[in-house]
Amino acid sequence: MDTVHAPAPRPLTVRAPAAPLSGSVAVPGDKSISHRALMFAALASGETRISGLLEGEDVLRTADAMRALGARVARTAPGAWQVTGQGLGALAEPADVLDMGNSGTAARLLSGILASHGIFSVMTGDASLRGRPMKRVTDPLSATGATFLSRAGGRLPLAIRGTADPAPLSYRLPVASAQVKSAILLAGLNAAGTTRVEEPVATRDHTENMLRHFGAQVTVAPLGAGSRTITLVGRPRLVARDVAVPGDPSSAAFVLVAALLVPGSSVTVRGVGLNPLRTGLFTTLREMGADLRLSNERTEGGEPVGDLTAVAGPLRGVDVPADRAPSMIDEYPILAVAAAHAAGPSRFRGLEELRVKESDRLAATVALLQRNGVAVDVVGDDMLVTGTGGAVPGGGRVETRMDHRLAMSATILGLVAAAPVSVDDTAFIDTSFPGFIDLMNEIGAALTP
Ligand code: S3P
Repeated sequence: MDTVHAPAPRPLTVRAPAAPLSGSVAVPGDKSISHRALMFAALASGETRISGLLEGEDVLRTADAMRALGARVARTAPGAWQVTGQGLGALAEPADVLDMGNSGTAARLLSGILASHGIFSVMTGDASLRGRPMKRVTDPLSATGATFLSRAGGRLPLAIRGTADPAPLSYRLPVASAQVKSAILLAGLNAAGTTRVEEPVATRDHTENMLRHFGAQVTVAPLGAGSRTITLVGRPRLVARDVAVPGDPSSAAFVLVAALLVPGSSVTVRGVGLNPLRTGLFTTLREMGADLRLSNERTEGGEPVGDLTAVAGPLRGVDVPADRAPSMIDEYPILAVAAAHAAGPSRFRGLEELRVKESDRLAATVALLQRNGVAVDVVGDDMLVTGTGGAVPGGGRVETRMDHRLAMSATILGLVAAAPVSVDDTAFIDTSFPGFIDLMNEIGAALTP
Protein backbone atom coordinates (compact mmCIF):
# COMPACT_ATOMS: atom_id res chain seq x y z
CA MET A 1 0.00 0.00 0.00
CA ASP A 2 1.19 3.47 -0.84
CA THR A 3 1.82 5.22 2.46
CA VAL A 4 3.09 8.57 1.17
CA HIS A 5 0.30 9.46 -1.25
CA ALA A 6 -2.77 7.45 -0.35
CA PRO A 7 -5.39 9.33 1.67
CA ALA A 8 -7.09 7.39 4.50
CA PRO A 9 -9.70 5.09 2.89
CA ARG A 10 -13.30 6.28 3.07
CA PRO A 11 -15.61 3.27 2.65
CA LEU A 12 -19.28 3.79 1.82
CA THR A 13 -22.31 1.53 1.76
CA VAL A 14 -24.92 2.68 -0.74
CA ARG A 15 -28.63 1.87 -0.60
CA ALA A 16 -31.43 2.85 -2.97
CA PRO A 17 -32.98 6.13 -1.78
CA ALA A 18 -36.58 6.08 -0.59
CA ALA A 19 -37.60 9.03 -2.77
CA PRO A 20 -36.74 10.26 -6.29
CA LEU A 21 -33.77 12.56 -6.87
CA SER A 22 -34.61 16.17 -7.64
CA GLY A 23 -33.08 19.62 -7.80
CA SER A 24 -30.80 21.91 -9.75
CA VAL A 25 -27.05 21.82 -9.12
CA ALA A 26 -23.73 22.90 -10.63
CA VAL A 27 -20.78 20.52 -10.83
CA PRO A 28 -17.12 21.55 -10.34
CA GLY A 29 -15.01 22.95 -13.18
CA ASP A 30 -13.70 20.90 -16.07
CA LYS A 31 -10.57 18.96 -15.13
CA SER A 32 -8.94 19.08 -18.58
CA ILE A 33 -9.51 22.81 -18.95
CA SER A 34 -8.41 23.55 -15.37
CA HIS A 35 -5.01 21.85 -15.81
CA ARG A 36 -4.44 23.67 -19.08
CA ALA A 37 -5.48 27.07 -17.68
CA LEU A 38 -2.87 26.84 -14.91
CA MET A 39 -0.12 25.55 -17.19
CA PHE A 40 -0.65 27.95 -20.07
CA ALA A 41 -1.06 30.93 -17.75
CA ALA A 42 2.31 30.05 -16.20
CA LEU A 43 3.85 30.07 -19.70
CA ALA A 44 2.30 33.40 -20.71
CA SER A 45 3.56 36.80 -19.66
CA GLY A 46 1.37 38.73 -17.29
CA GLU A 47 -1.44 37.95 -14.90
CA THR A 48 -4.21 35.52 -15.84
CA ARG A 49 -7.38 35.32 -13.79
CA ILE A 50 -9.15 31.97 -13.81
CA SER A 51 -12.74 31.51 -12.62
CA GLY A 52 -14.50 28.21 -11.94
CA LEU A 53 -11.21 26.30 -11.55
CA LEU A 54 -11.66 22.71 -10.39
CA GLU A 55 -10.13 22.55 -6.92
CA GLY A 56 -9.71 18.77 -6.99
CA GLU A 57 -6.52 17.00 -5.94
CA ASP A 58 -5.31 16.51 -9.53
CA VAL A 59 -5.51 20.17 -10.45
CA LEU A 60 -4.01 21.28 -7.13
CA ARG A 61 -0.94 19.17 -8.04
CA THR A 62 -0.64 21.14 -11.28
CA ALA A 63 -0.93 24.41 -9.34
CA ASP A 64 1.89 23.28 -7.02
CA ALA A 65 4.04 22.21 -9.97
CA MET A 66 3.66 25.54 -11.79
CA ARG A 67 4.57 27.32 -8.56
CA ALA A 68 7.66 25.11 -8.22
CA LEU A 69 8.56 26.14 -11.79
CA GLY A 70 8.56 29.82 -10.86
CA ALA A 71 5.03 31.07 -11.65
CA ARG A 72 3.09 33.01 -9.03
CA VAL A 73 -0.11 31.05 -8.35
CA ALA A 74 -2.65 32.36 -5.84
CA ARG A 75 -6.20 31.46 -4.88
CA THR A 76 -8.23 34.61 -4.33
CA ALA A 77 -11.71 33.11 -3.70
CA PRO A 78 -13.35 29.69 -4.20
CA GLY A 79 -12.60 28.69 -7.80
CA ALA A 80 -10.89 32.04 -8.48
CA TRP A 81 -7.16 31.90 -9.11
CA GLN A 82 -4.50 34.31 -10.33
CA VAL A 83 -1.43 33.09 -12.17
CA THR A 84 1.48 35.33 -13.09
CA GLY A 85 3.87 33.92 -15.67
CA GLN A 86 7.23 35.19 -16.89
CA GLY A 87 6.67 34.36 -20.56
CA LEU A 88 7.51 31.39 -22.76
CA GLY A 89 10.84 29.68 -22.06
CA ALA A 90 11.28 31.34 -18.67
CA LEU A 91 10.36 28.50 -16.30
CA ALA A 92 12.81 28.00 -13.43
CA GLU A 93 14.39 24.68 -12.47
CA PRO A 94 12.32 23.13 -9.69
CA ALA A 95 14.19 22.65 -6.40
CA ASP A 96 12.56 19.30 -5.68
CA VAL A 97 10.69 16.38 -7.22
CA LEU A 98 7.34 17.35 -8.80
CA ASP A 99 4.60 15.13 -7.37
CA MET A 100 1.68 14.81 -9.79
CA GLY A 101 -0.42 12.66 -7.44
CA ASN A 102 -3.06 10.63 -9.33
CA SER A 103 -3.04 12.78 -12.48
CA GLY A 104 -2.04 11.39 -15.87
CA THR A 105 -3.05 14.64 -17.57
CA ALA A 106 -0.73 16.68 -15.34
CA ALA A 107 2.20 14.29 -15.85
CA ARG A 108 1.78 13.92 -19.64
CA LEU A 109 1.20 17.59 -20.44
CA LEU A 110 3.96 18.74 -18.13
CA SER A 111 6.42 16.35 -19.84
CA GLY A 112 6.04 18.41 -23.02
CA ILE A 113 6.65 21.65 -21.14
CA LEU A 114 9.62 20.35 -19.14
CA ALA A 115 11.25 18.77 -22.21
CA SER A 116 11.29 22.15 -23.95
CA HIS A 117 12.93 24.17 -21.20
CA GLY A 118 16.67 23.99 -20.43
CA ILE A 119 16.11 22.64 -16.92
CA PHE A 120 16.42 19.37 -15.02
CA SER A 121 13.31 17.97 -13.35
CA VAL A 122 11.98 14.79 -11.80
CA MET A 123 8.30 13.81 -11.74
CA THR A 124 6.61 11.21 -9.59
CA GLY A 125 3.05 10.34 -8.58
CA ASP A 126 0.92 7.99 -6.51
CA ALA A 127 0.93 4.20 -6.96
CA SER A 128 -1.71 4.44 -9.71
CA LEU A 129 0.18 7.07 -11.73
CA ARG A 130 3.53 5.31 -11.22
CA GLY A 131 1.99 2.29 -12.95
CA ARG A 132 0.79 4.18 -16.05
CA PRO A 133 2.58 4.31 -19.41
CA MET A 134 4.72 7.39 -20.08
CA LYS A 135 6.61 6.11 -23.14
CA ARG A 136 3.72 7.35 -25.25
CA VAL A 137 5.00 10.86 -24.50
CA THR A 138 8.71 10.34 -23.76
CA ASP A 139 9.37 8.42 -27.01
CA PRO A 140 8.19 11.20 -29.33
CA LEU A 141 9.47 13.98 -27.04
CA SER A 142 12.99 12.51 -27.15
CA ALA A 143 13.22 13.74 -30.76
CA THR A 144 13.16 17.35 -29.44
CA GLY A 145 16.65 16.79 -28.00
CA ALA A 146 15.41 16.30 -24.40
CA THR A 147 16.52 13.20 -22.51
CA PHE A 148 14.39 11.06 -20.22
CA LEU A 149 15.33 8.47 -17.61
CA SER A 150 12.59 6.37 -16.10
CA ARG A 151 11.83 3.08 -14.41
CA ALA A 152 11.34 -0.05 -16.49
CA GLY A 153 8.54 0.31 -19.04
CA GLY A 154 8.90 4.10 -19.02
CA ARG A 155 7.11 4.45 -15.67
CA LEU A 156 7.46 7.29 -13.18
CA PRO A 157 9.55 8.48 -11.42
CA LEU A 158 10.84 10.17 -14.53
CA ALA A 159 13.93 12.40 -14.78
CA ILE A 160 13.95 14.97 -17.59
CA ARG A 161 16.90 16.93 -18.92
CA GLY A 162 15.10 19.46 -21.07
CA THR A 163 16.46 21.55 -23.91
CA ALA A 164 16.12 25.30 -24.35
CA ASP A 165 16.23 24.85 -28.12
CA PRO A 166 13.89 21.94 -28.86
CA ALA A 167 13.52 20.66 -32.41
CA PRO A 168 9.94 21.01 -33.69
CA LEU A 169 8.22 17.65 -34.07
CA SER A 170 6.06 16.11 -36.79
CA TYR A 171 4.24 13.19 -35.28
CA ARG A 172 1.35 10.89 -36.09
CA LEU A 173 -0.35 9.70 -32.91
CA PRO A 174 -0.33 5.91 -32.64
CA VAL A 175 -3.16 6.10 -30.05
CA ALA A 176 -6.15 8.44 -29.84
CA SER A 177 -4.89 10.52 -26.93
CA ALA A 178 -5.43 14.21 -26.24
CA GLN A 179 -2.73 13.98 -23.59
CA VAL A 180 -0.09 12.82 -26.08
CA LYS A 181 -1.25 15.36 -28.67
CA SER A 182 -1.01 18.10 -26.05
CA ALA A 183 2.46 17.06 -24.87
CA ILE A 184 3.78 17.34 -28.44
CA LEU A 185 2.10 20.71 -29.03
CA LEU A 186 3.35 22.10 -25.73
CA ALA A 187 6.93 21.06 -26.54
CA GLY A 188 6.45 22.84 -29.88
CA LEU A 189 5.64 26.14 -28.17
CA ASN A 190 9.29 26.78 -27.39
CA ALA A 191 10.64 25.32 -30.67
CA ALA A 192 11.76 27.47 -33.59
CA GLY A 193 9.61 26.29 -36.49
CA THR A 194 6.34 24.50 -37.01
CA THR A 195 5.11 21.51 -34.99
CA ARG A 196 2.66 19.11 -36.61
CA VAL A 197 0.53 16.42 -34.99
CA GLU A 198 -1.67 14.11 -37.00
CA GLU A 199 -4.43 12.40 -35.08
CA PRO A 200 -6.27 9.39 -36.54
CA VAL A 201 -9.47 10.31 -34.66
CA ALA A 202 -10.32 13.75 -33.27
CA THR A 203 -9.68 13.96 -29.52
CA ARG A 204 -10.61 16.75 -27.11
CA ASP A 205 -9.24 20.05 -28.44
CA HIS A 206 -8.96 22.15 -25.28
CA THR A 207 -5.20 22.61 -25.82
CA GLU A 208 -5.69 23.95 -29.33
CA ASN A 209 -8.53 26.27 -28.26
CA MET A 210 -6.78 27.63 -25.20
CA LEU A 211 -3.39 28.12 -26.89
CA ARG A 212 -5.19 30.24 -29.47
CA HIS A 213 -6.88 32.15 -26.65
CA PHE A 214 -3.41 32.97 -25.24
CA GLY A 215 -2.17 34.17 -28.66
CA ALA A 216 -0.62 31.13 -30.39
CA GLN A 217 -1.25 30.33 -34.04
CA VAL A 218 -2.86 26.88 -34.19
CA THR A 219 -4.59 25.51 -37.28
CA VAL A 220 -6.55 22.31 -37.77
CA ALA A 221 -6.84 20.67 -41.20
CA PRO A 222 -9.18 17.70 -41.71
CA LEU A 223 -7.60 14.73 -43.51
CA GLY A 224 -10.83 12.76 -44.04
CA ALA A 225 -12.37 9.85 -42.14
CA GLY A 226 -12.20 11.82 -38.87
CA SER A 227 -8.43 12.19 -39.02
CA ARG A 228 -6.78 15.64 -38.89
CA THR A 229 -3.53 17.55 -38.69
CA ILE A 230 -2.89 20.20 -36.05
CA THR A 231 -0.19 22.75 -36.80
CA LEU A 232 1.39 25.09 -34.27
CA VAL A 233 3.77 27.93 -35.12
CA GLY A 234 6.58 27.89 -32.54
CA ARG A 235 7.72 30.68 -30.22
CA PRO A 236 4.48 32.69 -30.18
CA ARG A 237 4.08 35.60 -27.81
CA LEU A 238 1.79 34.09 -25.18
CA VAL A 239 -0.03 36.82 -23.32
CA ALA A 240 -2.10 36.45 -20.14
CA ARG A 241 -5.83 36.14 -20.84
CA ASP A 242 -8.68 35.45 -18.43
CA VAL A 243 -10.18 31.97 -18.49
CA ALA A 244 -13.70 30.90 -17.41
CA VAL A 245 -13.79 27.15 -16.78
CA PRO A 246 -17.14 25.44 -17.62
CA GLY A 247 -18.66 22.64 -15.51
CA ASP A 248 -17.08 19.26 -16.25
CA PRO A 249 -19.31 17.09 -18.49
CA SER A 250 -17.43 14.04 -17.19
CA SER A 251 -18.54 14.94 -13.63
CA ALA A 252 -22.09 15.93 -14.68
CA ALA A 253 -22.34 12.42 -16.19
CA PHE A 254 -22.64 10.78 -12.75
CA VAL A 255 -25.39 13.10 -11.54
CA LEU A 256 -27.35 12.87 -14.79
CA VAL A 257 -27.17 9.08 -15.05
CA ALA A 258 -28.31 8.81 -11.41
CA ALA A 259 -31.34 10.95 -12.28
CA LEU A 260 -32.11 8.85 -15.37
CA LEU A 261 -32.06 5.62 -13.35
CA VAL A 262 -33.66 6.41 -9.97
CA PRO A 263 -37.41 6.13 -10.69
CA GLY A 264 -39.37 9.40 -10.66
CA SER A 265 -36.26 11.64 -10.65
CA SER A 266 -35.70 14.94 -12.42
CA VAL A 267 -32.39 16.79 -11.95
CA THR A 268 -30.82 19.76 -13.74
CA VAL A 269 -27.07 20.30 -13.93
CA ARG A 270 -26.31 23.92 -14.79
CA GLY A 271 -23.36 25.24 -16.80
CA VAL A 272 -22.10 21.96 -18.27
CA GLY A 273 -19.32 22.21 -20.88
CA LEU A 274 -20.65 20.88 -24.20
CA ASN A 275 -17.55 20.82 -26.40
CA PRO A 276 -18.61 18.35 -29.15
CA LEU A 277 -15.41 16.33 -28.57
CA ARG A 278 -16.61 15.63 -25.00
CA THR A 279 -20.30 14.84 -25.40
CA GLY A 280 -20.31 11.24 -26.70
CA LEU A 281 -22.03 10.03 -23.52
CA PHE A 282 -24.98 12.39 -23.96
CA THR A 283 -25.42 11.24 -27.60
CA THR A 284 -25.29 7.62 -26.42
CA LEU A 285 -27.78 8.13 -23.58
CA ARG A 286 -30.22 9.71 -26.03
CA GLU A 287 -29.82 6.68 -28.31
CA MET A 288 -30.78 4.58 -25.28
CA GLY A 289 -34.02 6.55 -25.04
CA ALA A 290 -32.95 8.92 -22.24
CA ASP A 291 -34.97 12.04 -21.62
CA LEU A 292 -32.07 14.50 -21.53
CA ARG A 293 -33.04 18.10 -22.20
CA LEU A 294 -30.70 20.93 -23.08
CA SER A 295 -31.53 24.54 -22.23
CA ASN A 296 -29.85 27.89 -21.82
CA GLU A 297 -27.20 27.15 -24.45
CA ARG A 298 -24.44 29.77 -24.50
CA THR A 299 -20.72 30.26 -25.07
CA GLU A 300 -18.51 30.91 -22.06
CA GLY A 301 -14.75 31.37 -22.26
CA GLY A 302 -14.78 30.10 -25.86
CA GLU A 303 -16.50 26.79 -24.99
CA PRO A 304 -20.17 25.87 -25.59
CA VAL A 305 -22.06 25.52 -22.30
CA GLY A 306 -25.64 24.64 -21.37
CA ASP A 307 -27.95 23.32 -18.66
CA LEU A 308 -28.88 19.65 -18.88
CA THR A 309 -32.00 18.16 -17.30
CA ALA A 310 -32.31 14.39 -16.91
CA VAL A 311 -35.75 12.88 -16.30
CA ALA A 312 -35.95 9.23 -15.25
CA GLY A 313 -37.46 6.73 -17.64
CA PRO A 314 -36.79 3.34 -19.21
CA LEU A 315 -33.57 2.89 -21.20
CA ARG A 316 -32.73 0.31 -23.84
CA GLY A 317 -29.39 -1.30 -24.73
CA VAL A 318 -27.09 0.42 -27.20
CA ASP A 319 -24.23 -0.35 -29.61
CA VAL A 320 -21.53 2.34 -29.26
CA PRO A 321 -19.14 2.61 -32.23
CA ALA A 322 -15.37 2.64 -31.62
CA ASP A 323 -14.90 6.03 -33.25
CA ARG A 324 -17.06 7.62 -30.56
CA ALA A 325 -14.72 6.45 -27.78
CA PRO A 326 -12.44 9.53 -27.68
CA SER A 327 -15.44 11.80 -27.06
CA MET A 328 -16.53 9.78 -24.01
CA ILE A 329 -13.37 7.97 -22.93
CA ASP A 330 -13.86 8.74 -19.23
CA GLU A 331 -17.57 7.89 -19.27
CA TYR A 332 -17.58 4.13 -19.91
CA PRO A 333 -17.81 3.06 -16.25
CA ILE A 334 -20.95 5.16 -15.70
CA LEU A 335 -22.33 4.19 -19.11
CA ALA A 336 -21.87 0.55 -18.07
CA VAL A 337 -24.03 1.25 -15.00
CA ALA A 338 -26.73 2.76 -17.24
CA ALA A 339 -26.48 -0.25 -19.60
CA ALA A 340 -26.80 -2.65 -16.65
CA HIS A 341 -30.12 -1.00 -15.81
CA ALA A 342 -31.33 -0.75 -19.43
CA ALA A 343 -33.43 -3.38 -21.19
CA GLY A 344 -31.47 -5.64 -23.53
CA PRO A 345 -27.84 -6.06 -24.51
CA SER A 346 -25.28 -3.27 -25.03
CA ARG A 347 -21.94 -3.36 -26.79
CA PHE A 348 -19.23 -0.71 -26.36
CA ARG A 349 -16.59 -1.06 -29.06
CA GLY A 350 -12.88 -0.23 -29.17
CA LEU A 351 -12.07 0.25 -25.47
CA GLU A 352 -8.33 -0.58 -25.54
CA GLU A 353 -7.39 2.80 -24.03
CA LEU A 354 -9.49 2.03 -20.92
CA ARG A 355 -6.81 -0.45 -19.85
CA VAL A 356 -4.33 2.38 -19.10
CA LYS A 357 -6.48 4.84 -17.15
CA GLU A 358 -6.24 5.52 -13.38
CA SER A 359 -6.87 1.76 -13.13
CA ASP A 360 -7.38 -0.90 -15.78
CA ARG A 361 -10.89 0.49 -16.19
CA LEU A 362 -12.00 -2.24 -18.52
CA ALA A 363 -11.26 -4.95 -15.93
CA ALA A 364 -12.46 -2.78 -13.04
CA THR A 365 -15.80 -1.96 -14.71
CA VAL A 366 -16.36 -5.65 -15.50
CA ALA A 367 -15.66 -6.52 -11.85
CA LEU A 368 -17.99 -3.72 -10.64
CA LEU A 369 -20.90 -5.18 -12.64
CA GLN A 370 -20.11 -8.86 -12.05
CA ARG A 371 -19.91 -8.43 -8.28
CA ASN A 372 -23.35 -6.90 -8.38
CA GLY A 373 -25.06 -9.61 -10.36
CA VAL A 374 -24.90 -8.11 -13.87
CA ALA A 375 -23.84 -10.29 -16.82
CA VAL A 376 -20.87 -8.69 -18.61
CA ASP A 377 -18.23 -9.92 -21.00
CA VAL A 378 -15.15 -8.63 -22.83
CA VAL A 379 -14.61 -9.74 -26.42
CA GLY A 380 -11.38 -8.35 -27.82
CA ASP A 381 -11.55 -4.66 -26.92
CA ASP A 382 -15.36 -4.56 -26.71
CA MET A 383 -17.46 -4.69 -23.56
CA LEU A 384 -20.83 -6.48 -23.65
CA VAL A 385 -23.38 -5.78 -20.93
CA THR A 386 -26.67 -7.62 -20.53
CA GLY A 387 -29.14 -5.12 -19.14
CA THR A 388 -31.59 -6.15 -16.43
CA GLY A 389 -34.34 -3.78 -17.57
CA GLY A 390 -34.69 -2.39 -14.04
CA ALA A 391 -32.97 -2.52 -10.65
CA VAL A 392 -29.68 -4.45 -10.68
CA PRO A 393 -29.24 -7.17 -8.03
CA GLY A 394 -26.38 -5.37 -6.15
CA GLY A 395 -25.06 -6.72 -2.84
CA GLY A 396 -21.42 -6.66 -3.98
CA ARG A 397 -18.26 -5.17 -2.49
CA VAL A 398 -16.53 -2.97 -5.06
CA GLU A 399 -12.77 -2.38 -5.19
CA THR A 400 -12.21 1.07 -6.61
CA ARG A 401 -8.43 0.66 -7.27
CA MET A 402 -7.44 4.33 -6.61
CA ASP A 403 -9.83 5.31 -9.41
CA HIS A 404 -12.22 8.23 -8.79
CA ARG A 405 -14.53 7.35 -11.67
CA LEU A 406 -14.89 3.77 -10.47
CA ALA A 407 -15.83 5.02 -7.00
CA MET A 408 -18.51 7.36 -8.36
CA SER A 409 -19.89 4.72 -10.76
CA ALA A 410 -20.13 2.21 -7.92
CA THR A 411 -21.99 4.78 -5.83
CA ILE A 412 -24.55 5.40 -8.58
CA LEU A 413 -24.95 1.64 -9.09
CA GLY A 414 -25.77 1.34 -5.39
CA LEU A 415 -28.59 3.88 -5.77
CA VAL A 416 -30.40 1.56 -8.22
CA ALA A 417 -29.52 -1.84 -6.74
CA ALA A 418 -31.89 -4.20 -4.94
CA ALA A 419 -29.29 -4.96 -2.22
CA PRO A 420 -26.76 -2.47 -0.74
CA VAL A 421 -23.47 -1.98 -2.60
CA SER A 422 -20.35 -1.45 -0.52
CA VAL A 423 -17.60 0.71 -1.96
CA ASP A 424 -14.16 0.08 -0.42
CA ASP A 425 -12.87 3.65 -0.79
CA THR A 426 -14.43 6.92 -1.95
CA ALA A 427 -11.43 9.11 -1.00
CA PHE A 428 -10.11 9.31 -4.57
CA ILE A 429 -13.32 11.04 -5.70
CA ASP A 430 -11.61 14.23 -4.50
CA THR A 431 -9.20 14.05 -7.43
CA SER A 432 -11.89 15.22 -9.86
CA PHE A 433 -15.18 15.86 -8.01
CA PRO A 434 -14.70 17.29 -4.52
CA GLY A 435 -18.09 17.54 -2.81
CA PHE A 436 -19.62 14.67 -4.84
CA ILE A 437 -21.27 12.95 -1.86
CA ASP A 438 -22.67 16.23 -0.50
CA LEU A 439 -24.00 17.19 -3.94
CA MET A 440 -25.66 13.79 -4.35
CA ASN A 441 -27.22 14.21 -0.91
CA GLU A 442 -28.46 17.66 -1.88
CA ILE A 443 -30.57 16.04 -4.64
CA GLY A 444 -31.80 13.30 -2.28
CA ALA A 445 -29.35 10.38 -2.53
CA ALA A 446 -29.21 9.95 1.29
CA LEU A 447 -25.60 8.66 1.29
CA THR A 448 -24.10 8.14 4.74
CA PRO A 449 -20.61 6.73 5.39
C1 S3P B 1 -7.52 14.11 -20.91
C2 S3P B 1 -7.51 13.21 -21.92
C3 S3P B 1 -7.99 11.82 -21.77
C4 S3P B 1 -8.82 11.62 -20.50
C5 S3P B 1 -8.26 12.33 -19.32
C6 S3P B 1 -8.08 13.80 -19.59
C7 S3P B 1 -6.98 15.46 -21.18
O1 S3P B 1 -6.87 10.96 -21.72
O2 S3P B 1 -8.98 10.25 -20.22
O3 S3P B 1 -9.10 12.18 -18.18
O4 S3P B 1 -7.22 16.37 -20.36
O5 S3P B 1 -6.30 15.64 -22.21
P1 S3P B 1 -6.17 10.45 -23.08
O6 S3P B 1 -5.96 11.61 -23.93
O7 S3P B 1 -4.86 9.83 -22.67
O8 S3P B 1 -7.13 9.44 -23.65
